[in-house]
Order: sequence, then structure tokens, then C-alpha cells
Amino acid sequence: MAERLPHDELLALRRTAPVSWIAQDEAARAGFPDHEGYWALSRHADVAAVSKDQANFSTRENGVIIRFAPEMTREEVEQTGFLLINHDAPDHTKLRQIVSRAFTPRAINALHDGLKARAEQIVDDAIAKGEGNFVEDVAAELPLQAIAELLGVPQEDRGKLFEWSNQMLSYDDPEVEGDQMTAFMEILAYSMALADERRTNPQDDILTRLVTADVDLGQGDEGRGLTDDEFGFFMILLAVAGNETTRNAITWGMHAFMQHPDQWELYKKERPATAVDEIIRWATPVTVFQRTATNDVVVGGQQVKKGDRVGLLYASANFDEDVFEDPFRFDVTRDHNPHQAFGGHGAHYCIGANLARLEVDLIFRALADRDVTVTQLSEPRKLRSSWINGVKELRVAYR
Ligand code: HEM
Repeated sequence: MAERLPHDELLALRRTAPVSWIAQDEAARAGFPDHEGYWALSRHADVAAVSKDQANFSTRENGVIIRFAPEMTREEVEQTGFLLINHDAPDHTKLRQIVSRAFTPRAINALHDGLKARAEQIVDDAIAKGEGNFVEDVAAELPLQAIAELLGVPQEDRGKLFEWSNQMLSYDDPEVEGDQMTAFMEILAYSMALADERRTNPQDDILTRLVTADVDLGQGDEGRGLTDDEFGFFMILLAVAGNETTRNAITWGMHAFMQHPDQWELYKKERPATAVDEIIRWATPVTVFQRTATNDVVVGGQQVKKGDRVGLLYASANFDEDVFEDPFRFDVTRDHNPHQAFGGHGAHYCIGANLARLEVDLIFRALADRDVTVTQLSEPRKLRSSWINGVKELRVAYR
């Protein structure tokens, strides 16, 4: 079964009720009393159509996260409105342009050699240990290094950035909730200090772009720089979106190879270029995001009313048998693979998709070059999350 997603339920939805209302009382029973209910879209075609339909759907109204962690305060939830992903056009377009040049294929290509050397070092160190937690030893570090490089975080500060990021995502210690908030504040404070430094000493990095941005948001505003909140949340989004997702793609990819040794042998021999997207489809690190209807609109034959939320079930769309041949086969040579793990090709399509693909590619190439056999010592310990398909621990041995 593709990685630990509720596939039986999703398959039943696709077959019997592809646009179905998940009611408030059901959400309340699941532990989210404030939740208002939403239309669950399980078909690939409906997820794609809504992702592209900016005229009728907003991320600004209620954000993209369907279910926030119960311990988050209303104020914390409201603050997520500062995130790029929770803006609509035209503001979204302007904000995205500030950073989009850092993510073009050319810009990502320029990172290739540095990241390749790091991937090789990470894999060599893990193999030298003989066994360990694959998440910590292999999957976590390359995404952190890549984002630090792009943002322009100096080498000597990366250690503490890594600690704060890990603490904030608390993947190694779920019990310390207080520490998560401290880490969040530390990252914000550190980002502000770096921002001050870049204002006087500009460099060719995302940080400098953010602090020197001149955006014209809202109606008739003069161009202005980002506010501290806008800047801080930009940094947090890049740090979280770039780390948690790619780390889980790499971890679930390793898990898939261990469960399908024939595919690992094939990959080692032939290195098909199609492997990276099959790993990302199989993992689907982001399982669901939401939109809110800004008009009455028909979706998949169902009337959706203005103000209703719709859930884009990427975890279902990526296994839709109308689109993928034999979707539950992990096949690194799959050549028709229009998965929506990075979103449905709308305005919010993952800005880091090219970078994520490069990182996944470099890690598995490095492992394959060493002709190593990785065996599973434990079941993956999953992250508790309503929207991330995450793993905290996967113990493996290298031979
Ligand atoms: C948006 C998934 C890696 C930065 C998104 C979206 C998804 C996604 C599903 C929302 C798309 C939509 O709503 O249409 C993933 C997955 C990744 C990954 C599965 C790894 C396998 C990255 C990386 C970065 C990144 C490496 C940055 C370094 C972002 C940002 C957005 C975004 C900034 C918001 C874009 C916008 O609103 O315009 N990602 N992502 N992601 N991602 Fe990724």
C-alpha cells in the first residue's frame, strides 16, 4: 500500500461520492469543534480544476490548512494570513514575484554541485554509522542546507537554525510544545537581525530580495517594503515548506524502495529519470489543502455555495485510477505521472518543486552509487498531523 495514507476510504469516496460534504459534527467528533465542514474533492480532475480557478476560489478567506492543531490559539491561526500561500491575486502575484527568480530552473541548477557534494557526505556519514534513524541521518539535512543556502544564512549560523527548525517542527520531541513556540520566536528574531544586516550589506540571496522589496499591495497603496510580520512569515514559510515536505518525500521514498527491492535494483541499474516523480507521488507529503468559494459554483456536478470550503485531497488525486495506470504499483519507470503532490498547477503551485526534485534525486543517486542495501529495522513512526504525511523515525541498517 502506498505510504500509510487512508487509501481504502479515499477509494470509496472517489467511487461513490467524489464531491462529498464532511459535516461539522463529523469534524467535531474528530476533535475540531470550531470546524465548519467542507466539500472533500477526491478526484484528480476536480482538484486540478479548483486549483486553477482563481476567479471562484480563495486562499485568503480561510487559508489553506483545513484543520489546525487543536492547541493553536485563534490569534496564531489568524497570523497565518501573512503567509504568501494565504494571499489571493493580485497581492499574491506581487509577493510571489519577490522570490520567484530564486527558484527558476537556472537558479536551482546553480546549486547542483554544492548540494551533490553535501548529499554524498550525508550518505557516507550515515553508512559509516552502520544503522540509525534515516529521517535524522539522511532525509533531514539536505533540505535544511538547501534552504539555508537559498535564503543566505551564513554557514556558521546554520547549526542553530537547524536546531530551531527541528524544534519548531518538533519531529524529534513531540512532547515539548512550549519549545516549539520558543523556536518559532528565535527564528523570527534571528531573521530580523539578518534582515538588518542585509539592509546595510545587500547580497545576491532571498533575504536581500525580501528586505529590499518594493511591493504595491492593496488598492492605491504606494510601493512599500514588507512589514516585519510579512517578512518573518515569508521566512517561516520557506523554512517549513522547504524542509518538512522534502524530508518526508525522501523518507517515504526510502521506505518504498525497502518494500519493493526489485524497484531498488532497477533504480540502481538504470537510474530512470521518472523515479523522482514516482517517489514524490507515492509519498504525497502534503495530503490536503483547502480553498474557499468566493461565488456560487458547480464542482464535479455538485453545487458549492459562496463561502463553502473545499478540500483538495491530493492524497486521493494522486492515486486516481482514471488517471494513473495501476496506481498502487510503485513503479520508478512510470512515464505518465501527472501527480498533484506540488498542487494542481494553479497560481500557488509549489515554488520549490524544482529544488525538491533535485534534492530527492541527489540523495537516491548517492545511495545507489554506493551500491548499498538498506534494510528496515522498525516501522515508520508517523507525525501526528492533519495535512502532512510525515515520519519522525524510520530505523534502518546499511550493508
Ligand atoms: C506550495 C508541496 C517542497 C516552498 C506548495 C503546495 C504544495 C507543496 C502542495 C501548495 C500548492 C497549491 O496550493 O496549489 C511540496 C512538496 C514538496 C515541496 C510535496 C517536496 C517534495 C518545497 C520546497 C520549497 C517549497 C523545497 C522551498 C524551498 C513552497 C512555497 C509554496 C509552496 C513558498 C507557496 C507558493 C504560493 O503560494 O505561491 N508546496 N512542496 N516547497 N511550496 Fe512546496
